[in-house]
Amino acid sequence: MTYSRIVGTGRYLPERVMTNFDLEKIVDTSDEWIRTRTGVERRHIVAEDQTTSDMCIEAARVAIEDAGIDVSEIDLVIVGTTSPDLIFPNVATIIQHKLGISPCPAFSLEAACTGFIYALTTADKFIRAGDAKCALVLGAECITKLMDWSDRNTCVLFGDGAGAVIVKPSEEPGLISCHLGADGQYKDLLYYPVGPSRDLAKAGTDEASIMMTGNEVFKVAVKTLGGIAAETLEKAGVAQSELDWLIPHQANIRIIQATAKRLGLPMEKVILTVQDHGNTSAASVPMALDVAIRDGRVKKGQLVLMEAFGGGFTWGSVLMRL
Ligand code: UT7
Repeated sequence: MTYSRIVGTGRYLPERVMTNFDLEKIVDTSDEWIRTRTGVERRHIVAEDQTTSDMCIEAARVAIEDAGIDVSEIDLVIVGTTSPDLIFPNVATIIQHKLGISPCPAFSLEAACTGFIYALTTADKFIRAGDAKCALVLGAECITKLMDWSDRNTCVLFGDGAGAVIVKPSEEPGLISCHLGADGQYKDLLYYPVGPSRDLAKAGTDEASIMMTGNEVFKVAVKTLGGIAAETLEKAGVAQSELDWLIPHQANIRIIQATAKRLGLPMEKVILTVQDHGNTSAASVPMALDVAIRDGRVKKGQLVLMEAFGGGFTWGSVLMRL
C-alpha cells in the first residue's frame, strides 16, 4: 500500500505588519478587545501590487528546497484559496508557469478556511491512486484585499500569507487519515457577496466586503472542530494521549482553546500562530505547520492532527505522522 507523506514545508508572509495599535487608528477598536476576544496581536498585509501567486511562489521555493527535490519532479499542483489572482486561469497554473514546472494537473479549489485541508486530502488521493509522485500543495490568501477596512467586525481578524508542502509517496504513513465535510445550510453566516456569476458589479464598492455573523460562526466552529478531531482519532484507532501536536486553523484563540479542551489536550501541545498571523484562511494551517517544524517543536516521526473550519461551512482534518 502506498501512502503519502509531507517531505518539505515552506511559508511566505508579506513584509508589511499591521498591529492592533495600527487598527485602533482606523476603526473604533482596541488592542485589548482584539487580543482578548480573538488572540490576534498583529497580522501581515499583502502589498498593493502583490498577488496570491507571488506569495505562493515564495512559499513553494522554500518547500522545494526543504524537501530537497528538483522542480522537474513536481507532477501535481493544488492550491486551496478563496482569493486567487484571477477568475481564470486558475492560480495553480500561474504558479506552475512561474516556477517552471512541466505540464501536469494544476488546479485550485475553494473551501474557504478549509482550503488547504481539502487540497492536501485531494493530493493524498492522487498519490495513493498512483496518479502523482510529487505534489506541490498550497494554502494561500490575499484576503485583506477583500476587506472593508471600516468594518471592525471583520477587519481586525484577517491577514495574508501562503503555506506550501511537498507531498510524495511513502511505504509508511505519512498521512494516516483525512476527513472532509461541508454543510451548505450555513452559507449566510459567513460569505463574500460578490462573484463572477452574481453581483459582479458590486466588486470594488462598499457592498463588497466579508459578511460574518461572528458569534454564530463561533458556536458551530467549536462544536464541529471538537467533533471532527475526536472522530478522526477514533476512526484511526489513535488515543488522544498518543497525539503529539494539534495544528488547528488559526481563527480565534478561544475556538482553539475549546477544541483542545474537548480533546483533553494541554495547550502546550497546540501550535499557535494566531497572535502573529491573524486568520489567514486557507494559509493558516500550512503556515503554522511550517513555523512549528522550523522552530523545532514538531519533529519527524511525531503524530500531528491538523484541522480547519470555514465558510460554507466546510471543515476537515488530517491525521499524520511527520
Ligand atoms: O475562519 C473562519 C471561521 N471564522 C471564525 O471562526 C470566526 C468565529 N467568530 C469569532 O471569532 C468571534 O465571534 C469574533 C471574534 C468575530 C467576535 O467575538 P464575539 O465575542 O463573538 O463578539 P460579538 O460579535 O458577540 O460582539 C461583542 C461586542 C459587540 O458590542 P455590543 O453589541 O456587545 O455592544 C460588538 O459590537 O463587541 C463589539 N465588537 C467590537 N468591539 C471592539 C465587535 N468587533 C469589535 C472590535 N472592537 N473589533
